[in-house]
Amino acid sequence: MSEEEGSDDVVRRERFSGGPARGFLSSLAADERIFEADLAVDRAHVVMLDEQGIIDGDDAAAILEALDDVEAAGHDALPDGEDVHAAIETAVIEHVGERGGRMHTARSRNDEVATCIRYRLREDVLATVKTVIETREVLTELATEHTETVMPGFTHLQPAQPTTVGHYLLSYESALARDTERLLDAYDRIDRSPLGAAAFAGTPFDIDRERVAELLGFESVLENSMDAASARDFLVETTAAVAALSTTLSGLAEDLVVFSNKGFVELSDDYSSTSSIMPQKKNPDTMELVRGASGDASAGLNALLTILKGLPRAYNRDLQRAHNHAFDAVDAVREATEVAAGAVATAEWPAETLATAAGEGFSTATGVADLLAMAGVPFRTAHEMVALAAESGSDYEALDAAAQEVLGEPLEARADRDAVEAALDPEESVVSRDSFGGPAPEAVSGALDRAVTAVEVDDEALEARREAVAEAAEWRREEVNRRV
Ligand code: ARG
Repeated sequence: MSEEEGSDDVVRRERFSGGPARGFLSSLAADERIFEADLAVDRAHVVMLDEQGIIDGDDAAAILEALDDVEAAGHDALPDGEDVHAAIETAVIEHVGERGGRMHTARSRNDEVATCIRYRLREDVLATVKTVIETREVLTELATEHTETVMPGFTHLQPAQPTTVGHYLLSYESALARDTERLLDAYDRIDRSPLGAAAFAGTPFDIDRERVAELLGFESVLENSMDAASARDFLVETTAAVAALSTTLSGLAEDLVVFSNKGFVELSDDYSSTSSIMPQKKNPDTMELVRGASGDASAGLNALLTILKGLPRAYNRDLQRAHNHAFDAVDAVREATEVAAGAVATAEWPAETLATAAGEGFSTATGVADLLAMAGVPFRTAHEMVALAAESGSDYEALDAAAQEVLGEPLEARADRDAVEAALDPEESVVSRDSFGGPAPEAVSGALDRAVTAVEVDDEALEARREAVAEAAEWRREEVNRRV
């Protein structure tokens, strides 16, 4: 190896020092994120090379020992290099001499980087899933407390029908359950090993790709070597899943901004800010930032689709600019999820204000139309009658007058006064809507049971994946320890 004073890495050598574009070419700083992943990949690869008799045991041991030293020194201590893969190899060779150069037998940085990204992204996706699951737990706990807390429900931001805080919160739990599914689904396609694809065209060495996958805790191997080295669709779908999650959160955040404005919810001071000039202000800034985080996710998704579109087979350096968009999106959205969960967990729902507001804007009108339809009036006619009443008021008298006009008979001819008064009462209105998935406390408590079970099932799915990764780390460490 030719070495210019502490500069040239194993890949650049003298001819391709990088010149003025050196910094532009290098991903070393950003690669800090995959430093640990690269060490894991190096170890698994070296153990496999040794097991297959591709390199001898002494060389494997020396390299594995050097890797431990490189890890202990940390990413910041790496020699300069085009990327973390080259820098670690350079460091290994600095530690053990030329034999360190056997580490890169039967692989390329192309399959190496693809493996490192997948290895690291698994951890990030699992951490994100954990946060989403915790948010769902917060929502189910609060929903349990609020199955009878009546609140106004809106469509077009106009008073629509009364519902409960429990039903409202569970609506977000349902959405987050699908976000969890999408993330776990994306995870299962991240969880495939490209290592052994080499540059894209395989290798003449008798490698064992399954074994490397096992040592890295990957569920399977990506077979076609050209696909394995080039594929980045896992970044697209992970970022899309994260973007969908951030869209869910942005709706929740927007609701909380609007509800704070109307006094329907009181965010804790921990999740609010004040103004530098207006002393009376308490602003829902955290929720505005959560709402804004969806911009980070969609930006990342758009960047990925743009970078990847039209890339020819096989490896192209554009790919070096791709994965950070996924990492950045995951970071932004995971943090936003945590904050949203904290804000919801600590918020107060003022029951009296909510109950009063729940009846405003003739929000029980639909229930009166439903009552008449149950008494045999065609729903459309009932709708017309109640709409007419709504022009003059929202009380029994207005409805009775409208009945005379539209039905040609008093309201009493169709429904008891008590039943009409009950339909007009926000609380009774909620209790009456007990269809599957509806807001009646009884319906919500059934939904809650199912939600709690679904959260447990997802948590187990998460733990199974975590354990697979942790178990592989143990096997790898045992294999390393056996040699060093
Ligand atoms: N740092 C590169 C990346 O992230 C590694 C692969 C370099 N391979 C190459 N053929 N230049 O994509």
